Amino acid sequence: MELEGKTALVTGAAKRVGREVALDLAKSGCNIILHHNRSDPSQTVREVREHGVECTTLKIDLTVPEEYEIMSSLDSVDILVNSASTFFRGDFNSTTIQSWNQSMAVNLTAPFLMMKHITPLMKGVDNLVVNILDGAGLRPWKNYLAHGVSKAALLHLTEVTARTLAPRIRVNGIVPGPVLKTEGMSDDVWNRVYSKTPLRRPGSPRHISSAVKFLAENDYITGEILRIDGGEYLETR
Ligand SMILES: NC(=O)c1ccc[n+]([C@@H]2O[C@H](COP(=O)([O-])OP(=O)(O)OC[C@H]3O[C@@H](n4cnc5c(N)ncnc54)[C@H](OP(=O)(O)O)[C@@H]3O)[C@@H](O)[C@H]2O)c1
Repeated sequence: MELEGKTALVTGAAKRVGREVALDLAKSGCNIILHHNRSDPSQTVREVREHGVECTTLKIDLTVPEEYEIMSSLDSVDILVNSASTFFRGDFNSTTIQSWNQSMAVNLTAPFLMMKHITPLMKGVDNLVVNILDGAGLRPWKNYLAHGVSKAALLHLTEVTARTLAPRIRVNGIVPGPVLKTEGMSDDVWNRVYSKTPLRRPGSPRHISSAVKFLAENDYITGEILRIDGGEYLETR
């Protein structure tokens, strides 16, 4: 897919990984529909527009199905990146029904609903959905039970929809490794997390945004799960 002049909707794009994906796609000439919820998107919107593309914002609490109705005002979309996420820590004993439900709502139901609303707006011959996954969905990380289950199910949704929505819409997943320290995480814990990966260093949001662009540009890839994780998958947790 030629990115110049296309329209990309990125969820959770006011900051962190989603912001970098939006900025990098803008740099390649994509108009951006920037989803956010609680964060102020104005700085990211300004930076997106500095690339000479259009940027509109979409404020939705992804756990509230009625709020998705606002998307009926959208025209056409070529790329959807589901990046918004929660990241609850908790093993089988400590996971509450609240954190379980919130994980499923944001990490699994939201991408499902976004795809239901956005794929009918995908008009071209080659369109792309990218779901951002997590290593916790590939391996049984026992301290991230609800998070891992939601991301494992999102991986399944990615593969099933890659079949259902073909041939006009490709659906792929990206599994980031440690690219940005979780808010509130100490430097010590962060160092320990990335030091356990074979590459012994953290990645950056740019590693994820360049993978999104690679998936957009190579139109013979669907149902693929790309690990951009410094080899984290190879280590057990
Ligand atoms: N960071 C990493 O190192 C890493 C590692 C592995 C996988 N990942 C995956 O990569 C993706 C991006 O990571 P990240 O660290 O940038 O994510 P993040 O900071 O944890 O979350 C991104 C955004 O999700 C949005 N969000 C959360 N709950 C929402 C809700 N109810 N409604 C609407 N939006 C909601 C928030 O938007 P607002 O701020 O606007 O409310 C938030 O800014 C995620 O899917 C994550 O699982 C990240």
